[in-house]
Amino acid sequence: MPVGDLLGPVTVGDIAHGGHWICRVDGRVIFVRHGLSGDDVMIQITEEAKSFARADVAQVLTPGPHRVSAPCRIAGACGGCDFQHVAPDHQRELKRQVVAGLLAHTAGIDWSGEVEPVPPGPLGWRTRMRYQAAPDGRPGLRRHRSTEVVALPDAGCLIADPSIASVPRPVMAEVLAVAQEPSPVFLDAASAGRRVVRQQAAGREWQLAADGFWQSHAQAPDLLVRVVVEALAPQPGEVCFDLFCGVGLFAGAMVDRGCRVWGIEGNRHAVEFARRNVPQAQFIAGAVDRRLPGLPSRADLVVLDPPRSGAGKAVLERVAGLQPRAVAYVACDPASLARDLGHAQRLGFEVTWVRALDLFPMTHHVECVALLTRPATGT
Ligand SMILES: C[S@@+](CC[C@H](N)C(=O)[O-])C[C@H]1O[C@@H](n2cnc3c(N)ncnc32)[C@H](O)[C@@H]1O
Repeated sequence: MPVGDLLGPVTVGDIAHGGHWICRVDGRVIFVRHGLSGDDVMIQITEEAKSFARADVAQVLTPGPHRVSAPCRIAGACGGCDFQHVAPDHQRELKRQVVAGLLAHTAGIDWSGEVEPVPPGPLGWRTRMRYQAAPDGRPGLRRHRSTEVVALPDAGCLIADPSIASVPRPVMAEVLAVAQEPSPVFLDAASAGRRVVRQQAAGREWQLAADGFWQSHAQAPDLLVRVVVEALAPQPGEVCFDLFCGVGLFAGAMVDRGCRVWGIEGNRHAVEFARRNVPQAQFIAGAVDRRLPGLPSRADLVVLDPPRSGAGKAVLERVAGLQPRAVAYVACDPASLARDLGHAQRLGFEVTWVRALDLFPMTHHVECVALLTRPATGT
């Protein structure tokens, strides 16, 4: 199946993790972007691997029942939204299937939850955008796995917060756009690290580098803090570790509930901001697995919010050694979460619940929060 080959008609099968649907042609598995179960389509091969191939839908011959016309004219060309052709309710159903499948197969967890919708809905939620210069100087976005830039339509990017849906000036190279009160900022990406932006969340003001990590959905900081605090039910005086703490979002919430808090974060710049944002907590710069042994040997509560690769076995072993009464694991990749929940169960934790939040509508991404507890020993 050489790259560029057109195949079909093909009936699209089930969803797989990563925004791909499974198709079979002559017994060979092909992972297809922009498909939808029940569609009959023509596909174009985009990548050939040893045991599978990747493809994109080139033409929809007969649409499946949940296919809609994408609200954005460049959906499918731009690499950002890979679910715009799916009815919003069904997007959440597909993510539910993916989360449930991963939890069942990787961690043996029988999950019967739903993916919870989050206001404002499928459009206008993203508070951070990186725009590139299209060949005609208009702001644009990169194609999937490509350096080619697709110019934004006149309406701008529909998933961006309306204040940053486009760039109010010609784009020279790359522009970072950040929605903040009272007005958004548009910065040359090369120098954005020197600019400080302000965000309001969880009853505090947060400062961070314009290009530093901050949850990208407008509601995510407040919502995730609420879910984590409800999960851990922190008590005054308890010791809490905020691991992968960024500029201290969860640390601040736990300090506000009277906890004694330590945070670890790999980005030194973020740690400087965390110290300013939450002066009542102690922050350590470095890799979590290396720095954790330098913290107190016991903790009552732990928040884990790792990057997509997950916390990993070594960190979970150290967390288990702290003997916390509860761990809140915030995850932007359900595959890494499922792998780590498997480790956590083997280390003696119980997975009390997993919630899935639709913090990345119009894309295949989904945020999960899991509560891990330690079964009572009866002593
Ligand atoms: C998903 S973000 C969470 C940040 C923060 N909890 C928040 O909500 O704003 C993950 C963070 O982990 C940091 N990080 C990635 N790998 C790390 C590691 N091995 N050790 C420590 N921090 C790491 C990143 O710099 C990033 O700030």
